[in-house]
This record gives sequence, C-alpha cells and structure tokens, in this order.
Amino acid sequence: MQAVGVIGAGQMGAGIAQVSAQAGYRVLLTDVDKPRAEAGKAGIARQLDRAVEKGKLDPQVRDQALARIEPIEGVAGMSACGLVIEAATEREEIKRTIFARVGEVLGHQAILASNTSSIPITRLAQASPDPARFIGVHFFNPVPVMGLIEVIRGLATADTTVKTIETYAAALGKQVVHANDAPGFIVNRVLMPMLNEACFALGEGVATIRDIDLACQLGLNHPMGPLTLADFIGLDTCLEITRVLFEGTGDPKFRPAPLLVKYVEAGWYGRKTKRGFYDYSGDTPVPTR
Ligand code: 3HC
Repeated sequence: MQAVGVIGAGQMGAGIAQVSAQAGYRVLLTDVDKPRAEAGKAGIARQLDRAVEKGKLDPQVRDQALARIEPIEGVAGMSACGLVIEAATEREEIKRTIFARVGEVLGHQAILASNTSSIPITRLAQASPDPARFIGVHFFNPVPVMGLIEVIRGLATADTTVKTIETYAAALGKQVVHANDAPGFIVNRVLMPMLNEACFALGEGVATIRDIDLACQLGLNHPMGPLTLADFIGLDTCLEITRVLFEGTGDPKFRPAPLLVKYVEAGWYGRKTKRGFYDYSGDTPVPTR
C-alpha cells in the first residue's frame, strides 16, 4: 500500500500513526492545525523513547519509524494515500465535514476508514466519496498495546475494502474481528454495560471506588477495575457510547447511570481532566469517594 493518512493526532490517532509507522508505512498525520499534528508526533517520539530506554526497541528502528511520520496541514496532502483513517473527535458533524474534504482529494482506489466507536458506519458512509470504499476500523486504547481491531462493514462496503483492511491489520500484528454495524459493535456492547453498572453500584452505595475496582481487578483478573478503566477511556466517551446503545436498541437495560451523567455534567471526564472517579493531580490516582 502507499502511504496511510491519519486524521486526528490525539490519543487514538497518534497511536494509529505510531503502529502504522512501526509496521513500515509512510504516515501523513493531520489535525485541526499543524502544531497539533506536530504535538501528536512529539507524543509518539516520547512513547518510542521510553521503549528504547527499557531496551525493548532499537534506537535505529525508533528513528526509522519517526522518520516515516510526517505532520501535515489539512488533508490536501493525502491524495497519495491508499488508506486514510479518521480518528477525529467523536462527533458526527465533524466527521462528515472531514469526509467531504478528504473526498475532494482521495484517489479512486483509496479507502476511507473511521475509527468511530459508536456512530453507524452505513450512515457515515453517506458522507464519504464512495460507500463501497468506506469501512469502520475500531482500534483500542492504548493502540500500541492492544492487539485487536474491530472491522465493521457498512451495507455498501465492498469485499475488496475488507480485504485491504485485513492485510493492513496483519501488517500491524493485530487480530481482526468482524462486527455488524450494530450499536457498540462487539467490544463496547459488552464493555459499556459493565462500566455503567459499576457507576450504578457506586451511586447506590454498594461499595467504595477502591473496592469496586479491586473486586473486579482481582476477582475477575481484569488489568484495571471498571471505574479506573472508565476514567482511562473518558467518562464523556463512556456516556456517549452508552447513550448510543440505549437509543440504538431502545432497551432500558442500557440506560446511563445517573452518577455517570452527573460526573460528565460536572466536567469530570477522568484522566484527561485530572478528575473523574479518581483525582489525578498528584503522582498516584486517589479515589474521590
Ligand atoms: N501507550 C503505549 N504503551 C503503553 C501505554 C500507552 N498509553 N500505557 C502502557 N503502555 C505499555 C507500557 O509501556 C508497558 O509496555 P512493556 O510491557 O513493553 O514495558 C505495558 O503497556 C504495560 O504497562 P504498565 O506496566 O505501565 O502498566 P499496566 O501493566 O498496568 O498496563 C495497560 C497498562 C496496558 C493500560 C493495562 O492496564 C490495560 O490493558 N488496561 C485495559 C485497557 C483497555 O481495556 N483498553 C480498551 C479500552 S476500550 C476502547 O479503547 C474502545 C473505545 O471505543 C472506548
């Protein structure tokens, strides 16, 4: 494949750019402006430096991977990309605007993919230049660590588009699962009710933050407790996906926990705002209840 374009240089976009570059692809990275794309690349450099310090990455390999990532202004430079992955803010109107802009420059064979965690792929495809070459590729956070990509085809997605993504995922060393274009796909359909239930349990006084997390971490052998994970993903994102599940299925079992709604209303989004179920202002996270 030619170069990979990545739109959005935040946590997910930077992760996607990093693993693509490490797999040998040339990567064009963009965001709302060039300084943000450059900041995304600087974050990738820090990740790779840490791996070098730990002796897990050869410095030469780091340098080669970094040299493959080019922060650019806008999407005009993406005309040579065989695959463009959108990992922008999870707002449909923003994604639609991006697809319209990319549509003006994308080559006739190129594939446009969205890393959306919740917006229907068939609907998003309508804003893309060619729904047959549009697909969902859902990565997981932290992208360099998580071994999965959920692939979601819209109604019009062509088989050749799916095949190209499978080849790309294999090059990245990630396993693929195929999900239908249903609310939450697979992982979030299963995960979000658990995180939401942990919020209900906390709100109803079943246990403290510490005990809910420790119970699930040690009792289920999960790497993180559900409230820690919700803070890690972002409580605003968790609420948004839970609402998609609730509205998309009409099933009351997915109704958002009032405490989760309150935290988001308070602007307590988790790690990214330094306050969620834990306080992240110090060296170690401190439970707030
Ligand atoms: N970026 C890159 N690498 C990272 C990282 C990051 N943000 N955070 C941790 N790592 C790496 C470390 O460098 C370390 O690598 P090494 O083993 O090669 O040295 C390895 O991950 C383990 O890290 P730590 O020892 O620091 O910490 P932990 O052992 O506690 O692991 C964790 C951290 C990998 C984040 C682990 O707690 C975990 O897997 N948590 C669950 C994550 C999860 O469920 N993600 C999915 C969220 S859902 C989602 O993304 C979908 C969306 O739509 C909501």
